[in-house]
Amino acid sequence: EKGEYRHFMLKEIFEQPTVVAQTLGSYLRQSDRSVALPQLDVDLGEINRVTIVACGTSYYAGLVAKYWFEQFARLPVDIDVASEFRYRDPVLEPGGLALFISQSGETADTLAALRHCKENGQTIGAVVNVPTSTMAREADVLLPTHAGPEIGVASTKAFTCQLAVLAALAAHMAVKRGRLSRAQEEEIVEHLLETPASLNAALDHDDDIAAMAPLIAPARDVLYLGRGQDYPLAMEGALKLKEISYIHAEGYASGEMKHGPIALIDENVPVIVIAPSGPLFEKTVSNMQEVSARGGKIVLISDAEGIAEAGEGCMATIEMPHVHPLIAPLVYAVPVQLLAYHVAVAKGTDVDQPRNLAKSVTVE
Ligand code: F6R
Repeated sequence: EKGEYRHFMLKEIFEQPTVVAQTLGSYLRQSDRSVALPQLDVDLGEINRVTIVACGTSYYAGLVAKYWFEQFARLPVDIDVASEFRYRDPVLEPGGLALFISQSGETADTLAALRHCKENGQTIGAVVNVPTSTMAREADVLLPTHAGPEIGVASTKAFTCQLAVLAALAAHMAVKRGRLSRAQEEEIVEHLLETPASLNAALDHDDDIAAMAPLIAPARDVLYLGRGQDYPLAMEGALKLKEISYIHAEGYASGEMKHGPIALIDENVPVIVIAPSGPLFEKTVSNMQEVSARGGKIVLISDAEGIAEAGEGCMATIEMPHVHPLIAPLVYAVPVQLLAYHVAVAKGTDVDQPRNLAKSVTVE
């Protein structure tokens, strides 16, 4: 039931503080602030590399996780979309964890890739939202998301719950590999436990985002820019927008702009910049200047610090709470989802059942 909400997608966006808290609750122990994964039959401390395979939004969750596995656990990560992975004869050596991320647990290409990895001696991990799904059954290590049923075709709450599980998993593997001191583990867990409150603070901007959506709705093309672990969010933002509003959108790494897409920039192409303040912010500011100099209209999604520094001259700004970099991808997912949602509503498209799309892609 949609209850007070106009669409399932909006309801599911607003459920995120609750379902992310639920999900984190089963991977973290609040009492001693430690990572406590569900009982596993496999010792993940022995893993020497990670291969991540998924499709669509679930793939973008995997791209964020690659940053975490590298940074915290110092594990090499290979990642690909399932339709490419399954046909490219990837090198799979002993000691590898192959990780499949899927809301439905039934996506045909992802399942085929899972079976291929199993035949090639990989330990199989599955981050799935449907505990009775085929992927859940076939995995050695089942890591459920507790997002509850997702009805809207565009994935929202499943994505943030996937990120929650992946952050906990990366921290767990980092502990197992002796890469995190007890104090560092406590600190990470503390930040993760702050996520639901930060998601609520992000949701408070729903009205501002609804008010600016009409500025984006007439566009034919929209560019999303992000850097580091927020780069996958630029791609996720572009995917959400194209799925439900049918506006062509692309997500790019901020630093890649001058290698091509800058040729597109004029006053008709809104550029959504996803940039929490931090060590990489200065670099993004210079990318923004390149856009402004060509008449581009910028929407800056940042925190108060970032907006104070670079908000002037933007078409609009969306202020996020100041958060630890680890949880930024979860928190910044909210404005990106809400922006796509409100643009689609402004255009009058069918938000919950976009044309040509199915919730579960069980054919190749
Ligand atoms: C985007 C979306 C799709 C799915 C993709 C994978 O909003 O919903 O891109 O993420 O089809 O589906 P699952 O996660 O069920 O494997």
